Amino acid sequence: MRILVTGGVGYIGLHTCIELLNSGHSVIVIDNLSNSKLESLQHVADITSLNLNIDNSIIGTEENLVFIKADIRDYEKLKRVFDIYPIDFVFHFAGKKSPKESIVQPLDYYHNNVFGSLVLLQVMRSAEVKNIIFSSSATIYGDTDILPIKESSQPKPTNPYGKSKAHIEQMLHDIYLSDDEWSIAILRYFNPIGAHKCGKIGDQPIGDSNNLLPVINKVVSGEINELLVYGGNYNTHDGTGIRDYIHVVDIANGHLAALKYLLSDDNSSIITLNLGTGAGYSVLEVILAYEKVSGRKIPYKITEPREGDVAQSFADPSYAQELLSWECQFNLEKMCEDSWNFQKNQKP
Ligand code: NAD
Ligand code: WQD
Repeated sequence: MRILVTGGVGYIGLHTCIELLNSGHSVIVIDNLSNSKLESLQHVADITSLNLNIDNSIIGTEENLVFIKADIRDYEKLKRVFDIYPIDFVFHFAGKKSPKESIVQPLDYYHNNVFGSLVLLQVMRSAEVKNIIFSSSATIYGDTDILPIKESSQPKPTNPYGKSKAHIEQMLHDIYLSDDEWSIAILRYFNPIGAHKCGKIGDQPIGDSNNLLPVINKVVSGEINELLVYGGNYNTHDGTGIRDYIHVVDIANGHLAALKYLLSDDNSSIITLNLGTGAGYSVLEVILAYEKVSGRKIPYKITEPREGDVAQSFADPSYAQELLSWECQFNLEKMCEDSWNFQKNQKP
């Protein structure tokens, strides 16, 4: 298969490209590099022993790993990509992803994520490419008391980022209703962490990130003095927030399993699946696991809860497990170990 991967230079896209290439697929990555650096894709080429072909003029190449710098909102450029390359399937990762930022820049989020997806889908429709896997998020569920979270839980996103994901999901459902030749998988990721075992690619946002693992990495590298633990009085076993952390390689493999399912399914379909492990860990448990594998102390201070945070969120992943025959391979220690391994490899 030739797969177009939007946002393929980003954290989850890179790991998915590796798994796709290792399974013998060809990959065309389009990315505007707003939150990533092209050198990360060179690491993917090195890991998979392939050449990275940069085709910014969109002239076409037979290589298995191609990069085109493009914004998904650029209809003409996208159209040219689909005209030049015979694309079988789209993995759509491109998007902005910070709930906090989206509250102050809602229009940027709707423009980038919703309008960008709209343009991509228009181009796909005109090229008659009707196969897509879309990166949705557990953030779509908002604050829910019913745990573990099932896909049937009513989405109640609390910020523009989450709402942008809900709009895109709705758009995909409407497309399918209008034309059932589409094959669509909507994957709602919980908390992806960890990194590829080679230590060269990982979660490396360009700007500030307030996700837990990038912050822990900053503490161990000495960039910041201590971790602020947001909230110590939640109704959880140790008072700190609980999340369903999942290794990014397990997320990547979930995509390959969804691809296999959609290709083997005689009928086209639309499926919505949680990608999580089903286990919840507290912030203090993550700190402990990280300290154990790294041998480093992580100084921390418990502070006020972060606005918009929920006490607990973890998935019921049984639907994805059954439908896709997919299971997570990696536990919390391995996630922290790989994250630490990636951190050690970063230049000071
Ligand atoms: P990331 O920021 O590392 O990767 C996203 C990539 O998309 C970046 O390389 C960025 O440059 C690119 N991009 C952004 N806007 C673009 C545009 N308009 N045109 C072209 N490229 C564009 O993020 P990630 O962690 O790899 O997340 C991938 C997807 O998964 C996102 O859609 C995100 O919302 C979703 N998601 C992420 C998480 C998480 O915690 N990482 C959780 C749930 C869902
Ligand atoms: C995890 C836990 C924090 C930083 C976010 C997005 C969600 C999805 C995944 C994209 C929480 C605590 C964190 C810190 C802390 N992304 N924490 N100190 O908020 O569950 O989910 O990423 O779709 O949409 O909202 O992840 O990694 O920020 O936080 O105590 O410095 O760590 O309070 O309990 P979150 P996170």
